[in-house]
Amino acid sequence: MTIEQFIKDNIIKLKEITDIPQKELYILLGFVLQKDFIWLTLNNTYTIKEKYLDTLKKYVELRANAYPIEYITCRASFYSEEFEVCDGVLIPRPETEILIDKAYEILSQISSPKVLEIGVGSGIISTILAKKIPDIKIIAIDINPKALELSRLNVIKHQVADKIEFRLSDMFENVQGEYFDMLVSNPPYIAADFVLPKNVTYEPKEALFGGTKGDEMIISMIQECKQRGIKYFCCEMGYDQKEPFTKEFLKYDCEFEFYEDYSGFDRGFVLNFK
Ligand SMILES: C[S@@+](CC[C@H](N)C(=O)[O-])C[C@H]1O[C@@H](n2cnc3c(N)ncnc32)[C@H](O)[C@@H]1O
Repeated sequence: MTIEQFIKDNIIKLKEITDIPQKELYILLGFVLQKDFIWLTLNNTYTIKEKYLDTLKKYVELRANAYPIEYITCRASFYSEEFEVCDGVLIPRPETEILIDKAYEILSQISSPKVLEIGVGSGIISTILAKKIPDIKIIAIDINPKALELSRLNVIKHQVADKIEFRLSDMFENVQGEYFDMLVSNPPYIAADFVLPKNVTYEPKEALFGGTKGDEMIISMIQECKQRGIKYFCCEMGYDQKEPFTKEFLKYDCEFEFYEDYSGFDRGFVLNFK
């Protein structure tokens, strides 16, 4: 079967689950044949070998069942950079770029900033901050050992391993008595009874669900920041959580600002304790 025929035969299978079925088929072809997009389009009449066709068929089936393409190719693009991803660790989302920009605005004004990231996942937040801020030091923790393994790969890939220390920790459990200018986090914040879209069901539950109401982990982080004297807290949150967090902030002497994501939904906040 030629590349052209493969696209023609399979486009219908992906139409239900993606707006860009043709592009995704080219991504799968590129991944399996180890060729770039230009080569694939210039060689439309190339005959795909049988052994590759079997693999491609398997991947199209997975994708047709809404299995994330990033888990197939083990790659995700984020903040114009390429990151390794793997099944069992959350796939980076574009809106987290805004969280990084909010944190960067503050950290770029602090000399040799010390940052704690809770829930490092694939390592995208800590890696990008470390790339943007030369003298930063970050302690990045996660409860999921697979996430720490993946993050370690990503910081090596992006040559910032010397700025980031990883720890297996449940929240602040293994972070005691250390000074931080900022806590940054994209924690689990979905309510326990929320029904996930099918593609998201393939991602780890502990990366998504933040408790019965969904805001419990973030509330606990706010309180810990206050107790531990962490001045800034930059955090991603659910679109419907502005109210509970405002209530919590009003208990403290602090300034706060909410920000929206690319679709105009409330998506996070920056908290500054006085
Ligand atoms: C929404 S994901 C964010 C991953 C990554 N920072 C990103 O933005 O793509 C949340 C992360 O928090 C981690 N996590 C969940 N509960 C935790 C806990 N109690 N302590 C530390 N990390 C936790 C999950 O394993 C997951 O990697």
